[in-house]
Amino acid sequence: MTLEERGRFLEQQANISPVEVEALIHGLTIQEADHMIENVAGVHDLPLGIAQNFIINGKAVLVPMAIEEPSVVAGASFMAKLAQSTGGFIATTTAPEMIGQMQLLEVPDPLAAQEKILENKDALLASITDLDPILSKMGGGPRDLEVRIIHESAIGPFLVIHLIYDVRDVMGANAINTAVETLAPQIESLTGGRVHLRILSNLADRRLAKASVTYETSALAFEGFSGERVRDGIIEAWAFAAADPYRAATHNKGIMNGVDAVVLATANDWRAVEAGAHAYAARSGRYTSLSRWYKDQGGNLAGELEMPMAVGIVGGATRVHPTARACIKLMGVQKASELAEIIVSVGLAQNLAALRALATEGIQKGHMALHARQVAIAAGAVGEQIDRLAEQLVLEKKVRIDRAEEILKDWRQ
Ligand code: MEV
Repeated sequence: MTLEERGRFLEQQANISPVEVEALIHGLTIQEADHMIENVAGVHDLPLGIAQNFIINGKAVLVPMAIEEPSVVAGASFMAKLAQSTGGFIATTTAPEMIGQMQLLEVPDPLAAQEKILENKDALLASITDLDPILSKMGGGPRDLEVRIIHESAIGPFLVIHLIYDVRDVMGANAINTAVETLAPQIESLTGGRVHLRILSNLADRRLAKASVTYETSALAFEGFSGERVRDGIIEAWAFAAADPYRAATHNKGIMNGVDAVVLATANDWRAVEAGAHAYAARSGRYTSLSRWYKDQGGNLAGELEMPMAVGIVGGATRVHPTARACIKLMGVQKASELAEIIVSVGLAQNLAALRALATEGIQKGHMALHARQVAIAAGAVGEQIDRLAEQLVLEKKVRIDRAEEILKDWRQ
């Protein structure tokens, strides 16, 4: 499709208006950007691609992905296509509960302080029930208080208090930070201690999203690779990441190629999602793979991915950014949990796209074909020259800027 045809296709298939298609194309204005952060001097763009073929919990969805790296959108779309014959992705989420932390210092008796806080838990939670009226109207609010004693640290023993807060459809950082700041003086007067830090935890391990998928072995076969060989090669590749942190970091980076692209498209806080993902990957004390690939009882390739997913569809940049609003509309999500389910499914598909290539022909063949266009542009190709030059570079197996410049020079002469 041409660019224009893609816009019309989205209007027809995704039920978004011409104005929203326009928002996908032109994005944030400088004036809008000026209200978002300080000292604004410009707007930084990224390509926004649409991943196709995704069926998630029985529903077809077009997924917007903001990313500079070629092959990611194609990889996710292809893996989503191969999953269609088994019904696509099944995804779930836990309650959207975030953790707010308070660091309680200078308590004379940590055990007594812990007891005191727990004895007064109901009253403490009740005091912040209506702190955020919109959130309580949506059914969110405080759920629990947990207290831990850190016995050994650089400053001696202290207490950590966790406020468990259901944030419904918002990302929740502001809500939870306000809640812990409000609770802190009460904690101080109860315990006689000093509450130092009051901030959310990005290890959002109570706000998890999980996706699972099954591939028929025969669907995995291609160009001289049998389905069995591809399936087993993927499981071997996963086992490497499961056992070795050096590989796990790269394996998880592949997952985050998919995850971050959707998080960014919806103007969510990708640093928060990244921090949560890697902390969760290290929760056993050893950094490992976020996903798991295995052979199921029917001999199919089965995979699953579980990770924290602190994303919202209400408030914050998601509401302000016109492209993000259009992206939410494009996916037709009504709740933050639905967005989280899409994101984790894309992460799993992306992971498989990388493993499939790595376990067979290697990553460079497919990647270089797509990367060649960027090299052609960097060398100065314009218009029709771009695709022609990219093809030539791939044909010569020299996807390099020096060769691209040479060919362009020849053509010009
Ligand atoms: C590149 O952006 C991502 C990969 O390195 C992921 C992986 O190795 O699994 C291909």
